Amino acid sequence: MKKRVYIKTFGCQMNENDTEKMYILLSDEYEPTLNPEEADLILINTCSVREKPQHKVYSEVGRYKSLKKKNPDLIIGITGCVAQQEGENLIKKLPYVDLVLGTQGFYFIREALKTYKKTKKPVVFTELKPDFKFPLILESENNSIFKDRKVSAFVTIMQGCDNFCTYCIVPYVRGREISRPPEDILKEVETLVKKGVREIILLGQNVNSYGLKEKNFPNFPDLLNMVSEIEGVWRIRFTTSHPKDLSDKLIEVIATNPKVCKHIHLPLQAGSNKILKLMNRKYTKEYYLAKVEKLKSLVPEIAITTDLIVGFPGETEEDFKETLEMLEKVRYHEIFSFKYSDRPFTVAQKMENKIPEEEKERRLKEVHKVQAKITEEIYKSYVGKEVEVLVEGASKKNPDMLMGRTTTNVIVNFKAPRLDLKGAIVKVLIDEAGKHSLKGTYLKTIRS
Ligand code: SAH
Ligand code: SF4
Ligand code: F3S
Repeated sequence: MKKRVYIKTFGCQMNENDTEKMYILLSDEYEPTLNPEEADLILINTCSVREKPQHKVYSEVGRYKSLKKKNPDLIIGITGCVAQQEGENLIKKLPYVDLVLGTQGFYFIREALKTYKKTKKPVVFTELKPDFKFPLILESENNSIFKDRKVSAFVTIMQGCDNFCTYCIVPYVRGREISRPPEDILKEVETLVKKGVREIILLGQNVNSYGLKEKNFPNFPDLLNMVSEIEGVWRIRFTTSHPKDLSDKLIEVIATNPKVCKHIHLPLQAGSNKILKLMNRKYTKEYYLAKVEKLKSLVPEIAITTDLIVGFPGETEEDFKETLEMLEKVRYHEIFSFKYSDRPFTVAQKMENKIPEEEKERRLKEVHKVQAKITEEIYKSYVGKEVEVLVEGASKKNPDMLMGRTTTNVIVNFKAPRLDLKGAIVKVLIDEAGKHSLKGTYLKTIRS
């Protein structure tokens, strides 16, 4: 009988993708379980982008300490960005941890387990090589570790970041930008569509600079076109785009390639040029707005979403007001907003004029309030329209309804005459707008 592995994942989509890779790497020896109590191996794949998720790691690992008393053979490992950041320290702080594997180190999980089983000593692997070759990890044809596979799947096309925004720990924990060879990416996409995946989400900290450091690599817009030529790929999404590298060619591909979804996540971070400069974002709000205008004029239906940080050191009330003004100008479909959080290694951590916690909290609430109204107005504008929805499965709230997304990435729950439409693209008439989703009625199946 196979042993069991439980993986708890924190953080971004790249971490989710890394977790899938670990399941595949371990699949000869371990099968996934959702219950840590019955696991032989527990892995915590961690995030350190803000202080809060990092703290969660310690409480999460603490929960498994007692399981080790019951089962002395249980192996506990920490992977991901906190593992990368803390390395050996984690073993000192948490002596019952057996493996610490960083953001490149997790690729060697099988070797690490072998060493651990032989030596019974903690294994730490947190080397970060700027020329690391990401191994190609494909789920074999008859492998069924992802039993009910989702309609959409992540494919990491590049990892790391060279931008060094002054608040951000990612360049330190993911290393320098490395693009994966296009052949590997295409092979991975082909394997996924054979498993029934219809939507591919290309991932990178900064997808717009894909391939630029390599000789003979396609650039990102070319890569999008290459992925779209694979039969079986119906939709392509990507995240994240840094505004400074958003090329006209990319806008053109979004406008003209029917498989590329009409949605872009374009992190603004702040609306004041003074703060953008302190953040080392390398663009001004005028530049950002010009890109948005271009996007809207060539792709009128485009949905734009963003990330914002409130309370960056030195952010005055006037600076903050400029962020609110940007919300009104751009009219995002949705935003992800965060209170500035001090991170180790970063430049901003050492800056003066830190904003008090209560003030950051107030600004965050204000941002939420302004955006809630905009999202509501945008969602209401869908009512009465017919939209194409890629069906993901049963609706979470109501199992008699189906759930899917529009090309603009809005969730639609809808009634349909049959419920076995997972993976189909259907036409839905929108009847009602909620705060976080739309409601509608099935009209017809376009593709299945
Ligand atoms: N590569 C992406 C973002 C990765 S981190 C990009 O450049 O857009 C995801 C988001 O976390 C960031 O966009 C930012 O809004 C937020 N974030 C990063 N560091 C942070 C910090 N120190 N405090 C608060 N939010 C932070
Ligand atoms: Fe962090 Fe900036 Fe790189 Fe994004 S672009 S990962 S925010 S340093
Ligand atoms: Fe977190 Fe690492 Fe992603 S810090 S946001 S898991 S790249």
